[in-house]
Amino acid sequence: MSALRNDRARGASDEAGVRLERLQFRRASRGDGEAVAALHADSWRRHYRGAYSDAFLDGDVLADRLAVWSERLAESDRARCTILAELDGHLAGFAHVLFEEDATWGALLDNMHVASALKRQGIGSSLLALTGSAVTERPRGDGLYLWVLEQNVAARAFYEACGGSFAGRARVSPPGGIAGRLIGSPAKLRYAWRDLAVLLAAVEPTKRSAGAQRARDGTEPTSR
Ligand SMILES: CC(C)(COP(=O)(O)OP(=O)(O)OC[C@H]1O[C@@H](n2cnc3c(N)ncnc32)[C@H](O)[C@@H]1OP(=O)(O)O)[C@@H](O)C(=O)NCCC(=O)NCCS
Repeated sequence: MSALRNDRARGASDEAGVRLERLQFRRASRGDGEAVAALHADSWRRHYRGAYSDAFLDGDVLADRLAVWSERLAESDRARCTILAELDGHLAGFAHVLFEEDATWGALLDNMHVASALKRQGIGSSLLALTGSAVTERPRGDGLYLWVLEQNVAARAFYEACGGSFAGRARVSPPGGIAGRLIGSPAKLRYAWRDLAVLLAAVEPTKRSAGAQRARDGTEPTSR
């Protein structure tokens, strides 16, 4: 990923940045639901306006996310995985993947969000690299895909920078199946990696945060 700055590779920080070597990565468990839901709701409020209704974003979104995450994390499930990035013990980002979700496209990256103040510092690419590695460890040897709001130009640029290819367009389903939570009928785009080597090369180890590299190498636990 040409745009990734080399200072990240050394775990250095720029003026406004964090030292990415302070990041830790682990799998989420039951007690993480509230923190993940809060970050998820905040991120939707900041980035999904125009597609999701103001009434939903300013009203029920946190309760909705709390319900979803409480259920997701209530029991461990080998068919899915939520990877957390933490900075000094605080949630900095997360990625949620459903393995073997689609016969054609493979594993589904269902959610991926980085805390607003920490964006553009390599956390998203580290989470994506760990997600890709988790998928490659599955016996089926799948690809990975995701859906992103068409209006979410920044996230699309991120996935393209990580080697993802555009692979289709569809209408967004409303959160919780409640049509009034959408404004009109927004579109979403599929991005896919048929071959995860492309993802892992784009987010190559020297350009990922030191914490993610240690997690991948097994020198630091990804779960507790
Ligand atoms: C999209 C998101 C997960 C990316 O995580 P991140 O930690 O900010 O991304 P990274 O720092 O790893 O970015 C890696 C590269 O992607 C590209 N990129 C990331 N954000 C970008 C942006 N806003 N505009 C253009 N390119 C961008 C760049 O090439 C970047 O490398 P560089 O910073 O060295 O130029 C994060 O910005 C986010 O949480 N956004 C809001 C929620 C969201 O839209 N989630 C996706 C839902 S599908």
